[in-house]
Amino acid sequence: MNKLNIVILAAGKGTRMHSDLPKVLHTVGAKPILGHVIDCAKALQPKKIIVVYGFGGERVKEAFSTEEITWVNQAEQDGTGHAVQQALPYLDADADTLILLGDVPLVDVNACKRLVAQADNKLAILSFNKADPTGYGRIVRNVKGDVRAIVEHKDATDEQRKIVEVNTGIMAMPNAQLKNWLSRISNNNAQREYYLTDIVALAVADEVGVVAEITNDEWSVTGINAKSDLAQIERVYQTRIAQALLQKGVTLKDPARIDVRGDLQCGRDVEVDVNCVFEGNVSLGDRVTIGAHCVIKNAVIATGTQIAPFTHIDDTAIGENSRIGPFARLRPGTTLASDTHVGNFVELKNAQVDVGSKINHLSYVGDSTVGKSVNIGAGTITCNYDGANKFRTVIEDGAFIGSDSQLVAPITIGKNATIAAGSTITKDAPADALTFCRAKDQKSIVGWKRPQKIKK
Ligand code: UD1
Ligand code: CA
Repeated sequence: MNKLNIVILAAGKGTRMHSDLPKVLHTVGAKPILGHVIDCAKALQPKKIIVVYGFGGERVKEAFSTEEITWVNQAEQDGTGHAVQQALPYLDADADTLILLGDVPLVDVNACKRLVAQADNKLAILSFNKADPTGYGRIVRNVKGDVRAIVEHKDATDEQRKIVEVNTGIMAMPNAQLKNWLSRISNNNAQREYYLTDIVALAVADEVGVVAEITNDEWSVTGINAKSDLAQIERVYQTRIAQALLQKGVTLKDPARIDVRGDLQCGRDVEVDVNCVFEGNVSLGDRVTIGAHCVIKNAVIATGTQIAPFTHIDDTAIGENSRIGPFARLRPGTTLASDTHVGNFVELKNAQVDVGSKINHLSYVGDSTVGKSVNIGAGTITCNYDGANKFRTVIEDGAFIGSDSQLVAPITIGKNATIAAGSTITKDAPADALTFCRAKDQKSIVGWKRPQKIKK
């Protein structure tokens, strides 16, 4: 079984995408189309993965620079048979090859396994029945039902065009035969291309068994040619993720309104309201609830924590039983310990907040270390940036920061210190004391009149 080579055909130009980005680099669930195919290939644990590339080659190679892939350039796209011919020098003589298409992101690993299992001494093809088979290669069978050939749409007779069983393009075969067959194909056909599909008739002539396995999962063999295909496949992909989450016991208020662009792990009794987007690696502990319209990226959210609507979280860890949002923004490098509260219109960046602290309204806390049971009043700003450098703010355990205060970093607010509302603090504030710094006198002008609108 380990004697498997996989050839992924990805040289096509993708003209109908109307994009400067190579077709296979467009994404489904934020992962390049070709990335999905490579992941499927890797799951089959082959000896070698060969990608035949062409259009936009260098960018495609760069996108997968960390993968162990043999890249083969097909400078001129003279057909699928020609594409596989380019890979021949890299195939192991005693192995079997699985051919995959680089623009079919939802390719099914299990179907591939079934083809590979037969490829030892047969040519195994994955086919499906398509209501409108226009454009596809037709699977031609004899009266006994044996596969005799694949005929491309443009070369097919009217009679053959009535066949609804079509070629997916995914097939597997022994390398020795593949090499022999590919030396015998010609481009004497309607498209002047070297068709990989011509090897089927050659296999039949050589009395090598040919099997076509029919799949019912059309999405798993659907290639992407245009943005409309991409949009459709994205929905299918998201629906499948949503169904998998439901099956594991996650409550989704509407499975049609969640997008997972990466990996989402959920504990027990997690609830996700509508229109949430999860990116990168996100882990939600038991009983976590996510309100509507949240965007959460690369985050770990511990047991019992509630995220209220319209919250944006990026590269942040949140401890147990905390309450975040609505309208909170947690930026990279932030960690919140358990029982913390972050309220509306609060922005945290690279802030480490310890157990039981509250930042409930309209504040910016950046590059800060906040101790335990600290209360940061509405409109507090850590002034961490002088226009050239960034400095840290340290707020020690039990401190109380009055509303509308500015803490000009670098600065330390001592343990149990109180900062009076409206203060601009530029020097360290001692522990256990009240510190204030604001206009000294409060004055009242008796009889003062508000300005009147000038009549024109
Ligand atoms: C091919 C099959 C057809 C099948 C259909 C399924 C052949 C001759 N025809 O059709 O039977 O029903 O796929 O979608 O094989 N590619 C290259 N180099 C080339 C040509 C194509 O790498 O020179 C790659 C493309 O990037 C794509 C795949 O091969 O990933 C299929 O190419 P495409 O042009 O879409 O296939 P068709 O010829 O339409
Ligand atoms: Ca095609």
